Amino acid sequence: MVNKHLIALEQNLGTSSLDKINEPFIQAQGVELYLKRDDLLHPVISGNKWRKLKYILNHALSIDCQKITSMGGAYSNHLHALAYVGQLLNIKTRGIIRGERPKKLNPTLSDLMSWGMEVEFISRSDYRQLRDYKTYNALPGMQQGEYWLPEGGAMVLALQGVAEVVDELTIDYDVLCVACGTATTFAGLINRVADNKRVLGFAALKGADFLQADVQQMLVNQPYDHKNGSICLDYHFGGFAKVKPVLVDFMQDFEQAHGIQLEPVYTGKMLYGIYDLIRQGFFKPGQRIIALHTGGLQGNRGITPVI
Ligand SMILES: Cc1ncc(COP(=O)(O)O)c(C=O)c1O
Repeated sequence: MVNKHLIALEQNLGTSSLDKINEPFIQAQGVELYLKRDDLLHPVISGNKWRKLKYILNHALSIDCQKITSMGGAYSNHLHALAYVGQLLNIKTRGIIRGERPKKLNPTLSDLMSWGMEVEFISRSDYRQLRDYKTYNALPGMQQGEYWLPEGGAMVLALQGVAEVVDELTIDYDVLCVACGTATTFAGLINRVADNKRVLGFAALKGADFLQADVQQMLVNQPYDHKNGSICLDYHFGGFAKVKPVLVDFMQDFEQAHGIQLEPVYTGKMLYGIYDLIRQGFFKPGQRIIALHTGGLQGNRGITPVI
C-alpha cells in the first residue's frame, strides 16, 4: 500500500487479537476454537470492511478518484464503512440503497448522511441489475474521477487485504471459518491459506449455492477445486437478515460467557453454525478452528427477531 493517508489510518487501527473460546462442550469434543477479533480494528471500519476496502481505496486514490459510488441494503455495514472512510479521506461517496426510502431513517442511513454520503434509493429490480457491473469503471454514465465499487466491495482487489488476515495468524490451525455475504472475504482467505488448511464459509443468505461460482470468478488466476474451501448453506435462519429468537438467545449467551458481542446477520449465524457442527462431531478431535469476527456490530441497531 502506498497512499500515505491510508498508511496513517492503518497505523491508528486497534489490534485484532486471537482469543481462545473456552466452553466445556468444545473441550469434550477434543477440538479448540479461537476467534480472530477483527471487530477490534475500529468501531466503524471494523472487521472485513477495512480488509476489503484497503487496496481498493489505494487504487482509487492512485487514479485520482474524487467520488466512490457503491450499493447496499438499508443496514449495510459496507456502505457505513465507505461513508465514514470517504469523509476521513476527503473522497465524496454515493450510496445506492435497495428499496424505497423509509419514512423514518434508520441509524445506519442517518450515519451515512451525516458523513456526507449522497444517498439514493432504487427499486429492488433496478438494484439487482447493478450487480452486473463488476469493475471500477463499469457503471454506465460515470464521470471522470468517479469510481464504481460493487456490492460488498466484491472486487479482486479486495482479496489482497483479506489475505493479510491469514498472514497475521500466529498459531497453527486446521479450519478457518468466515461468514459469507458476497463471499469476497471467503475468496480472499482461500487465496492465501496453505494447501493443508480448510476454509469453511457460512452463508448469511438462503439459496446461496451461486456463491461457489462467484468465488471462482474472483479467484481469476487460481482454479478453485473446493479442495480447501466449502460454503455451508445450513445456517441462514430463513434468509438474509432474518433473525430467529433462538439465534438472539445464542448471541446473548455467547456475549455473557465470553464478553464478545456478535451481530445476527453474519457473525451470529456463523458462530451458531460452528457450535452446532462441533456438537455434531463435524470437526475431528485434535482439530483447531479459527473463526474470523468480521465486525459489523452497528448492524445490531434495529434488528428484530421473527418468531
Ligand atoms: C460483518 C460482516 N461479516 C461478513 C460479511 C460478509 O462478507 P463478504 O461479502 O465478503 O462475504 C459482511 C459483509 O460484507 C459483513 O458486514
